Amino acid sequence: MNSKFFWSLIFASALGAAAFTYSTVGPDVSDAQTPVEQAPTAVAPVTTAPVTTAAAAPTPSSTRVVAPAVPRSELYAGVWNGGQAASWDIPEMDLFSPHPQGYKPEQPIKFSHWLHVEKNGMECQYCHSGINKSFYSTIPSVESCMGCHAQVKTDSPEIIKLKKYYDEKQPIEWEPVNNLPEHAHFNHERHLKAGVGCQSCHGQIQKMEVVEKASSLKMGFCVDCHRHKGASIDCTTCHY
Ligand code: HEC
Ligand code: HEC
Ligand code: HEC
Ligand code: HEC
Ligand code: HEC
Repeated sequence: MNSKFFWSLIFASALGAAAFTYSTVGPDVSDAQTPVEQAPTAVAPVTTAPVTTAAAAPTPSSTRVVAPAVPRSELYAGVWNGGQAASWDIPEMDLFSPHPQGYKPEQPIKFSHWLHVEKNGMECQYCHSGINKSFYSTIPSVESCMGCHAQVKTDSPEIIKLKKYYDEKQPIEWEPVNNLPEHAHFNHERHLKAGVGCQSCHGQIQKMEVVEKASSLKMGFCVDCHRHKGASIDCTTCHY
């Protein structure tokens, strides 16, 4: 390959990486974390008055409390090896990963870990007791949310949305944030028993208004910790 072509390829992929990172990772944390209450979107038929700016939005009967802005470094504190596969591994290199570190999709309901865990003192396992089962059985059901929200904040637009799922017996299709490819197997229970805390892989979830992927979850990330902690690095531990 001639060198000019080679460098233009490198350049093109760098551009691609930058564009990709911006499109998937979304705005810089500093704004991502800014607690801006957006105009309620899917709230029943209040659409007669076109609402364009958040400022012009009619304030809902109750105001949503949102997490204080926290820099990303603080959100990722305690993550093993900064969530990287190696010291030279940077999120920009996740060209082909659909879900790089920092992946933070919008969820069907604005569920805030900060509000439930940090502010209202709930335990992780209260909601994620089924850890190790399938994705949707690990995430609490609409019924368990309604256990509280039949009474709590019933006038909030987000809770009205929640109740609609409940009344229509529809599950909430939460967008998965952390997921491994089919060929890699993960087991939460073994890690919990070995005293590896949630934050080593997921970061400071309790400070997050919107869940984001704090670690790349690449193979090097898993193997690096396994080496340090003397856990198995046999290929068949994770691939079978
Ligand atoms: C009140 C219930 C509740 C509590 C308490 C709770 N969570 Fe969650 N968690 C959810 C819901 C609902 C989702 C899915 C929506 C979302 O991603 O925000 C979720 C998503 C997650 C995810 C992302 C799952 C994915 O898609 O990969 C992680 C990781 C997580 N929680 C960890 C924790 C940790 C750690 C704690 C304790 C610090 C905790 N959760 C406490 C309800 C809860
Ligand atoms: C143990 C009780 C409990 C459970 C279970 C619970 N919540 Fe909450 N939720 C609360 C409390 C308390 C608040 C905060 C109310 C306040 O002080 O503003 C809250 C606030 C909220 C808000 C913000 C409402 C607003 O606009 O201010 C949303 C959205 C929400 N919860 C969604 C959920 C979802 C989705 C689930 C199920 C995954 C869930 N909650 C499970 C107790 C609970
Ligand atoms: C050693 C790293 C690690 C630790 C520690 C860890 N997780 Fe996870 N978590 C993962 C990985 C990897 C996935 C994706 C699993 C998959 O796709 O098979 C995941 C997925 C999840 C999910 C999404 C649902 C699912 O099962 O796929 C939730 C919720 C979650 N973790 C919560 C927690 C909570 C709560 C804790 C602490 C009690 C915790 N995790 C500790 C690595 C970890
Ligand atoms: C922060 C450290 C840490 C990280 C990161 C980590 N692990 Fe582990 N893992 C451990 C420890 C410690 C054990 C040993 C538990 C034991 O001995 O019972 C373990 C055990 C396991 C086991 C069970 C091994 C067995 O003998 O059955 C599997 C599977 C596994 N890890 C997969 C993964 C995968 C996949 C990832 C990456 C997504 C990962 N781990 C990331 C610390 C970690
Ligand atoms: C501790 C868990 C763990 C062990 C041990 C492990 N892998 Fe992996 N491996 C993973 C995870 C997780 C991924 C998925 C990474 C991703 O999503 O990019 C992966 C991905 C791969 C891939 C796909 C290419 C890639 O990098 O994504 C290959 C090939 C692979 N592993 C081979 C091996 C071989 C060969 C061994 C033994 C020398 C091994 N793995 C040991 C966790 C492990």
